[in-house]
Amino acid sequence: MCGIFGYIGKKENAPDMVLEGLKTLEYRGYDSWGIAWIKENKIEVVKNTGKIADAKGIQLPPANSAFGHTRWATHGGVTLANAHPHLSRDCTLALIHNGIIENYSEIKKELIEKGHTFLSETDSEVALHLTEEYYKNSDSLLEALHKSFSRFEGLNAIIVMDAKTKKFAAVKNGSPLVVGKGKDGNYLASDAHAVLPYTQDVYFMEDEDYILVDDKSVSVYDGSLSKKSIQYTQLDWKPDLVSKGMYPHFMIKEIHDQVDVLERIIQKKDSEIHVLSEEIKKSFGTYFVGCGTAAYAALAGTYLFSKIAKYHVNFTVGSEFGFLADFLTDKSLVVALSQSGETVDVIESVKKAKEKKARIASLVNVLGSTLNRESDVSILLSAGIEKAVVSTKAFTAKLAHLILIAYDLSGNIEVGRKYLRLARDSTKEILTTKNLKIISRLAKTLSAKEHIYVIGRGLSYPIALETALKIKEASYIHAEGFAAGELKHGVIALIEKDTPCISFVPLDETHGSNLAGAMELKARGGKIIGISPQKHDIFDIHLPYTDASVASVIPSVIIGQLLGYYLALEKNVDPDMPRNLAKSVTVK
Ligand code: F6R
Repeated sequence: MCGIFGYIGKKENAPDMVLEGLKTLEYRGYDSWGIAWIKENKIEVVKNTGKIADAKGIQLPPANSAFGHTRWATHGGVTLANAHPHLSRDCTLALIHNGIIENYSEIKKELIEKGHTFLSETDSEVALHLTEEYYKNSDSLLEALHKSFSRFEGLNAIIVMDAKTKKFAAVKNGSPLVVGKGKDGNYLASDAHAVLPYTQDVYFMEDEDYILVDDKSVSVYDGSLSKKSIQYTQLDWKPDLVSKGMYPHFMIKEIHDQVDVLERIIQKKDSEIHVLSEEIKKSFGTYFVGCGTAAYAALAGTYLFSKIAKYHVNFTVGSEFGFLADFLTDKSLVVALSQSGETVDVIESVKKAKEKKARIASLVNVLGSTLNRESDVSILLSAGIEKAVVSTKAFTAKLAHLILIAYDLSGNIEVGRKYLRLARDSTKEILTTKNLKIISRLAKTLSAKEHIYVIGRGLSYPIALETALKIKEASYIHAEGFAAGELKHGVIALIEKDTPCISFVPLDETHGSNLAGAMELKARGGKIIGISPQKHDIFDIHLPYTDASVASVIPSVIIGQLLGYYLALEKNVDPDMPRNLAKSVTVK
């Protein structure tokens, strides 16, 4: 949460570069934004509330060092004063921050007693004043930052700009920060892909790393300020992976990307899948953990493993994992699922599991992310960069991997590949213009509804939950997913005449009982939208897809994603940046 981008070097257009960098990171937070740059021996700042994409005609001066921030508000409302960067009174220090300083209020009191005046309600401004206070009595910016950061509780990334020494000092604990080493200068960013237009050499900062950057060099120090050597990773990503191309939104581009993503996963070598199946075989108990969409993929995994591999897997959402972790042992395996690899509740779960000496595996999309680095075994999802806040291709990439791993465990990985090929072909058919028109027409008729219910059984249950989530976040319509069999235990009381009810009816063992659930809804006036390979009289509207056996979860959820997307368009919501959300949830 919160996007950070900084440049210091020979180029004269640092503020403009930062503006562009922030635009690529805006999915991390879009409440407000701000940029600071050094002009002679002082720092100047521009700030604004709202999305950076909406800020037109900004004229920024030339400068060769600048940094900026896009905010996802935690402490303090969405106001200009609360926007970052925060600037010291004498305009020589500026600070940007991602995270939460949990003990900020006691430190703030202490600083007020010392005469500091605060202009914002943020915890971040406390970091600025405390660092400034320590810097008064030290000639080392890094030492001052070290002293202040050591007092903070919580997970944070902080960068301080110093106009006197023309340096940036940075530190992180939990929240991500990446250093990019370019030919003409150095970069700092919250996500590696933001620096791709300038360099492919990046250093993923470790927790408790302190960094000092100027126009020529980058120095890294450990938590006791002893110098460390720096190993850059060479990224082989292409900058054009980050563009929307011919599509109006990243969400629809990423929905279309899924055909290629599936192909890449089908092409993976057996050995790339074996690493995780071998860990599962060795363990005494495997536990899946994830949040939001990743949690629904994990839940789907429990069904897939039971059905295909006859393995029992436990599952819980990241925010609850800590309360269920007491029984973990050194023989347990925790498999964390995450697109970003930075979701704080997942990272905390992994830390808890490590305390219990459990092995850690992950299915993660972002190379170099905390989860990717903290895992004993990590499979990269190969979904490509996912920018829309509403996750789509990372979900199906997780499902595809889980299908392959489950078949690998049962000794039939080729069968898994065969079904994924069917799912890829079925997805291609769904994405034809004719089908897209049908789904967008349906969205028109649903857009005035207040509630939508989504039901499924077995493997379709997590798909129902995920479809409801797509509709909620993309269109703000209240949508709820339920296990079809649970309806009669209360939920059915909510069904009135014409209530839209989306029913997943795959051709598996749940077919008959799913139809029965839909009939119960129809008998109470529900309008049934059947997502199924087969037409049925009970459906008021039928959205078909070609059956892909167990991999039908993929085409069926893609229909749910498309419905979410077209509902967003009908409701005039930007599906790439829905209100109150951010792509990477790095705060509790
Ligand atoms: C929903 C969505 C979120 C994320 C969740 C976990 O569309 O994007 O629910 O799935 O915040 O994020 P990752 O997968 O990055 O751990």
